[in-house]
Amino acid sequence: MKKKLLSIALIAVMAATMLCACGKKESAGMTINDGVLTMATNAYFPPYEYYQGEDIVGIDADIAKAVADKLGLELKIEDMEFDSIITAVQTGKADMGLAGMTVSDERKESVNFSDTYATGVQVVIVPEDSDIASVDDLAGKKIGVQLSTTGDIYASDDYGEDNVEKYNKGADAVMALTQGKVDAVIIDNEPAKNFVAANEGLKILDTEYVTEDYAACINKENTELLDAVNGALAELKEDGTLQKIIDQYITAE
Ligand code: ARG
Repeated sequence: MKKKLLSIALIAVMAATMLCACGKKESAGMTINDGVLTMATNAYFPPYEYYQGEDIVGIDADIAKAVADKLGLELKIEDMEFDSIITAVQTGKADMGLAGMTVSDERKESVNFSDTYATGVQVVIVPEDSDIASVDDLAGKKIGVQLSTTGDIYASDDYGEDNVEKYNKGADAVMALTQGKVDAVIIDNEPAKNFVAANEGLKILDTEYVTEDYAACINKENTELLDAVNGALAELKEDGTLQKIIDQYITAE
């Protein structure tokens, strides 16, 4: 009898070992594939993520690299439509999404969010000679946004779907603005500054539309990774690395 119990215990241990050995590997207590931390982003959002030659650089890329370093993982960045990031995280195509992504209750139904690492403000870009002076003047105007961003969601809610033109990239919305196809663009403040600097004849309205928090999104089931990322972020905040990264890309006014 005792012998039988022992062999059952042995089989259980062996089965458990085998389970661990295949598929997802345990690395630093997290469920991660082969020591690689895959980050989904949409790399047309300077200064958070953008191309410098072949490389994706920016605040999010640097933060993700610093987090990966802390966790002893190699960082891999996957560029995709902003609209696909949450699905990529949900299906396991990516371990986390880092894309100047705003924490929202609606998104929380699909993914978990890490602690926030930055603040964003939705602002309004208009041509320099525009008669739009504040958000109150936007009613009835054509507004350009990046598809599925919070700018899109708020503008569609406040001014009606019919008045909102949705583009795959923020830069495409700004291009449409320079061509007179839309009257204004609603987008996050730091990318807005970049786009205005890169295009002549545009300005950002003084009135802020909505203030929001940025965080990494992570698969709801991977709470080990969520805890690990939060731990790494806390250390990076504490030792000043986070602020150093931000200061590298955003010069204080
Ligand atoms: N903060 C906005 C949002 O979460 C826009 C983010 C767009 N990010 C990007 N990498 N294109 O909806």
